[in-house]
Formats: sequence, C-alpha cells, structure tokens
Amino acid sequence: NDQEIVGSLKQKLAKIFEESLRLTVPEEVDIDPSIAICQKPEFGDYQCNNAMGLWSKIKGKGTQFRGPQPLGQAIRENLPTSEIIDSCTIAGAGFVNVVVSRQYIAKSIENMLVQGIETWAPKLQVKRAVVDFSSPNIAKQMHVGHLRSTIIGDTIARMLEFSNVEVLRRNHVGDWGTQFGMLIEYLFEKFPSGEVTSSQDIGDLEAIYKASKQRFDNDPKFKERAQQAVVSLQAGVQNYRDAWANICEISRRGYEKIYQRLGIHLEEKGESFYNPYIPRVLDELGEKGLIEESDGARVIFIEGKTIPLIVVKRDGGFNYASTDLAALWYRLNEEKAEWIIYVTDVGQREHFEMFFAAASRAGWLPIEDKDEAKSKCKATLVERGKSKEWTDNELDEIAEAIGYGAIKYADLKNNRKTDYTFSYDQMLNDKGNTAVYLLYAHARICSIIRKSGADMEKLKKKGSLDLAHPDERRLGLHLLQFSEHVEESCLNLLPNVLCEYLYNLSENFTKFYTNCQVVGSSEETSRLLLCEATAIVMRKCFHLLGITPVYKI
Ligand code: ARG
Repeated sequence: NDQEIVGSLKQKLAKIFEESLRLTVPEEVDIDPSIAICQKPEFGDYQCNNAMGLWSKIKGKGTQFRGPQPLGQAIRENLPTSEIIDSCTIAGAGFVNVVVSRQYIAKSIENMLVQGIETWAPKLQVKRAVVDFSSPNIAKQMHVGHLRSTIIGDTIARMLEFSNVEVLRRNHVGDWGTQFGMLIEYLFEKFPSGEVTSSQDIGDLEAIYKASKQRFDNDPKFKERAQQAVVSLQAGVQNYRDAWANICEISRRGYEKIYQRLGIHLEEKGESFYNPYIPRVLDELGEKGLIEESDGARVIFIEGKTIPLIVVKRDGGFNYASTDLAALWYRLNEEKAEWIIYVTDVGQREHFEMFFAAASRAGWLPIEDKDEAKSKCKATLVERGKSKEWTDNELDEIAEAIGYGAIKYADLKNNRKTDYTFSYDQMLNDKGNTAVYLLYAHARICSIIRKSGADMEKLKKKGSLDLAHPDERRLGLHLLQFSEHVEESCLNLLPNVLCEYLYNLSENFTKFYTNCQVVGSSEETSRLLLCEATAIVMRKCFHLLGITPVYKI
C-alpha cells in the first residue's frame, strides 16, 4: 500500500524511481533518484531527472542504450506498479514526467482528514536540535536584528517540532563580560546605599550603559576600577554577584514582555552559563595544538584569515568567542544535539565564520560547511463596521491576530538572507502576499463551510473526494505537497519556502473556488472536504509560522 511508504509525496516517488533506476543501469553505477516538481504543469506533476546524468556514466561502456532518451524510456518501463502514478511520458533528454493519480490524491486527503495533519509531517533524520535565537544583550537595546532573529528562530523551531525533532530553544543572552565591570562600578557610585543589588528601580539601563561607557572611555581612574570590578565579579564577590543578577533581572523583564506578546517561548541559557566550562574546553583545544600565543593573547589561527580568533584576552579574561566555543562543546557533548542552528544578524558573520572554522579544526564538526500593527488593524475593522457585528473581545482578538501575524509574515516571507524594509502599509495590505490576505482567505473558507450547514465531522468520516475538475486536482495535489515544502523549509532553514507554499495554496484555492461551484452542486460533499482540507493545511502553516488564524473577518 503506497499510502504506507513513509515521507512526502516527493520522497515516495523517489523510492519508486529508485527501484526502477536500479533495474535499468548496471549494479556498479551509483543511483540517486532526483525528483522535482515540474516547472510546466502541462508536462506533468513531477519529473525524474536522472537519465542525463546516468547516461554520462554508462555511455561508451558497452551499454545497450543509444542515448538518454531510450534510457528514460527504460526507466519508465521498469517502474513498479504504483497507485501513486497515473501516467508517465518522456520528454527531451530522457526526462520522465509523472502525472499523479487523482484517486491517490483524493485518498490521501481523505486519510489526512480522518487521521490528522500530523500524518503529513515530514520525516527528518535529526532527533534533537538546538536553535540559538533571539539572544539579546543585557543592558543594551534589543534591536530589529534581535526581533527578526526571534521571529525566524521561533518558526524554525516550530517547523522542526512539527517534524518530530526535539528542539532545545536557547536564548544565548549576552549576560557576561567586561561591560558589567563598568556598569556595576557606575551604579555603586550612583547609588551608594546599595539599591543596585536589590531594587528594580535604578532607572533606564540603556542610558546607564551609555553613561558608564562614557566614564570608562574618558576617566582612566574609573576605567581601572571598572576592570577591577570585573575581577571581583568573576571571583564571585557577593555584592558584585548580586548587582549583576539584579541588572540581568531588570533586562530580562523587559524582553520577556516582548516574548509574551509575540507568543514565543524560549529557554535562557546565557553566556554566563557556559563560563565554568571555558577552561576545560580551552584545555582540550590546547592539547590539540590549536591555541597559540600572539601579542600576549591566546588565539586560534584560521586559514585564509589574517587576524586570528582571540580566545583569551591579554588581561587573561575570556570573551564572546571562548564562550561560543564552550557553548558549542556543551551542546554537542552534554546536550547531544545533532543539529545546532544559530539565528543571528549578518553583522556577526565574521565571528561565526571564525568560530566555526576553529571548531572544525578541533574536529568537532563533521565538515566545514508589535502593538502599532494591532491598533491599525482594529481601526480598519471598525471602519468596515465590524464593531457593530462583533463583541469588543472578538474585535480585539482578531485585530491582534492579524496585526501580529502581519509583522511575523513580513519577516518570514523574505528569504532570510536578504535585508528588507519594514513598512506597516505594505504588511497590512489585504491584497498581495501578506498575512492579512492569507488570513482573509482562510476566514473565507471557514465561512463557506459554516454557511453550507454541513456536518463536517460526519462528512470527513463518510464522504469521499473526487477531483474531476482540473482545478480541484491541482488544489488537491498542492495539499499533498505540504509535507515536502515543510521538509525543504526545515532542511534549508528557509521559512520563506513555507510562506510561498501557503501563498500558492491560497491562489490555487481561489482558482478552484472561482471555477467550481461548491454549495448546491452535485459535487458538494467532495468539494466541501477539499475546502476543509485546505483550511486545515492553511491553519497548520499559520501555526508553523507562529501566526494565529482567524475564523471570521
Ligand atoms: N548576543 C549576541 C548579539 O546580540 C547574539 C548571540 C548569538 N548567539 C551566539 N551563540 N553567539 O550580538
């Protein structure tokens, strides 16, 4: 039963083609099925692209084939019978185009409707992953880069969790280092009677940071005291420890508010957590001969870089790099993570390149390798007369879902490698590729189902799908492709792939809904089920993107 081959539709086809490829070319030739979605739907749904590559491996070696095209023919003929494939054609240089059976699509959707969307989760190799994201710095501003990391990191975590990976969501807060010397010294001076160690009311930390930095840069005597304060803090002197803990707590309350508003959960393991591990990690690196002396500091040289990675400063202190090395060691050896994902802004590229290179040299790595939106939405809803229809609570909830959804989606739909411009007008537009448009689309489907008066639970169990109209079939196939898009989005860490999938889903739905009458047609049951399946997949996408769906608009 092909329903039971695990994995996405694409993976299932790969399995089927693997059998055929094995039968088609000699044992000693490596095969690696390459299946892609057809760029031109008139050719088919999927394409097996192996013929050309295999041809170059077997030609001139006494093969019976006369070129890639006949090889493609043979691949087609050797395909095992499968309920997934409706028909195959050969195009160009042996490309095998596959049309997926519409009965198979229908049956798969029926199964999902009964067993739940979890059965469409992609199967990944990884069991446990660390996602290091958000990671603001104590007493410094949480800037747009941190916010973006928070949103993208959360979605990556959600996608992996959906794919049954255990995710350790880590907030690598900058809560350690020399800035605390000057901060604490400055605060001790400003509050001589000890408020620093206990009171939450010591003023605006960012301003205090700036003022203390100014003192540090301009007053050599203060600078000396600040450096001494670092030593006291690291040695564990009580009032220094208390002041440090209090400052961290003040900052923490600030950013926790933001996490709460965005509905994001993560676990703080700040830089200070890894501090005790640094000496033994550096010992290990030293034993491997990686650490050298340079200008009084201890460093690791990296091929292709003129400046080495400093791991122990001239004054003997540890730094950001030594902390990240210890954190990596901890995640690999203590937490046994198989995949460690860092979501940070590009400003950190140099640091990460150097530190990954150092970890590779050590043999640790296998290879080198918002409220404004809400109120704007509420205003639009009120303008559209919704305040008369809905209760205040409903208005508030829906405005919040759309507003925050819009911000998140605008962040995620762009390839995370490109920078983008933050614009409320753009992200709150209800036409085009925005969360607002998608949330509307979903709410519209819900209202179609509601208005039909059908008992969905009963239909799900008793009804069946028949995808006779080409737009029904296209939509059904797109639904089946959910899993492989989540998979691709996970493996390449590109949430925008999922955004694009969701956007195309909504477009396919619109096309279907324009051309196929649902309520009152002879295909009503089948079409309502298709609506329901679309709504379920859309909701799962929203959920993975950290967006709250709304059911009416
Ligand atoms: N706190 C850092 C910053 O804001 C980001 C930390 C990223 N994670 C890490 N493991 N280095 O610049």
